[in-house]
Amino acid sequence: MTYARYNRQQSYQWNYDHPPEIVDVDVPDWPGHTSFCGYQLKSPLGMPAGPLLNGQWCLYYASLGFDLVTYKTVRSSYRACYDLPNLQPVKVGMLQGNETDVPTQDEMTGSWAVSYGMPSTEPEVWQQDVARTRELLDDDKVLCVSVVGSVQPDWTLQQLADDYALCGRLAVESGADFVEANFSCPNVSTCDGQLFQIPEDCRTVVETIRAQIGDVPLIGKIGRIAQGDDMHRLLAAIHPFVDALAMTNSIATRVKNAQGQFLFDGQRRGICGKATLDASIEQTGWARDIIRENKYDVELIGVGGASCLEDVQQYLQAGAGAVHIATAAMQNPLVAVEIKNEAAEKSPAN
Ligand SMILES: Cc1cc2nc3c(=O)[nH]c(=O)nc-3n(C[C@H](O)[C@H](O)[C@H](O)COP(=O)(O)O)c2cc1C
Repeated sequence: MTYARYNRQQSYQWNYDHPPEIVDVDVPDWPGHTSFCGYQLKSPLGMPAGPLLNGQWCLYYASLGFDLVTYKTVRSSYRACYDLPNLQPVKVGMLQGNETDVPTQDEMTGSWAVSYGMPSTEPEVWQQDVARTRELLDDDKVLCVSVVGSVQPDWTLQQLADDYALCGRLAVESGADFVEANFSCPNVSTCDGQLFQIPEDCRTVVETIRAQIGDVPLIGKIGRIAQGDDMHRLLAAIHPFVDALAMTNSIATRVKNAQGQFLFDGQRRGICGKATLDASIEQTGWARDIIRENKYDVELIGVGGASCLEDVQQYLQAGAGAVHIATAAMQNPLVAVEIKNEAAEKSPAN
């Protein structure tokens, strides 16, 4: 039996319009308990923002054994997707974040450059879809909605924060269990920086979101931070307002084809998949140490490059309470079932 997958030769809209039906698969129990942000989960396995383009995609992957599903990042207004290629395979080893560019390859061997531009439907559309999804999702699964502010050229930081908070409130009103704020969004104070790189600005945004979503768990999704000190500053600024941090979104760099030409007009794109595993586990470990030292009440989601039980265990050992899988799940929809099978076989109870 083969299971439906995202088709990267087709447009974003085509994939949005062709979500798979939910499936009836035998999913083994995860050995042990998983408690995350006050919820009891059947396992720490989840999917991050991106591959689950709408509610039906969320339900499909939930039926394939993922217990925490994240609805793709939504905005306060419609936004079109970038043109193809949206997913360009790249030929890389483990990345650190200081690479100037990476070469393309035709075959997908584990890592790709992701180029969507965070498209979104209008709020009326995603709100109805989120509400339907929460209704149909099993009670023991968690639905997280990822949100982002849509920076306008003349906006102040507070306007951007208000836009994030509006999306967060609309998500909660529609039934989201968790809200995730994607901080890989351009910062209004610096032209080339992203929000997670400016701790004080990030604090303004999370404080504003918190005021609009009450006690609903708030997750901050961040990109690559290459130094423990920077992680320290970020956590010190935002810990009173977030329940968890998810890392690492991707590692950004430029992408060059075999003819030496840059793709995407020479702009950087996030590399996702296997190549980000080591850097992201390292980063998760720094965050865990800082949280412990300072007794911050913040949990961690490990994301980036996980594709098997060993990767999941490495993230859990580095301090993650949940582990998200995007690229490997898009390649192999059965990945959560396989990981749970292996975990059950290796459990001392067996
Ligand atoms: C197809 C695709 C779309 C993505 N879109 C988003 C997005 O809208 N918002 C976001 O925060 N991250 C997005 N990401 C990043 C993922 O959430 C995740 O951080 C990244 O893929 C690393 O995990 P992986 O190595 O398991 O793929 C996307 C990734 C992929 C592959």
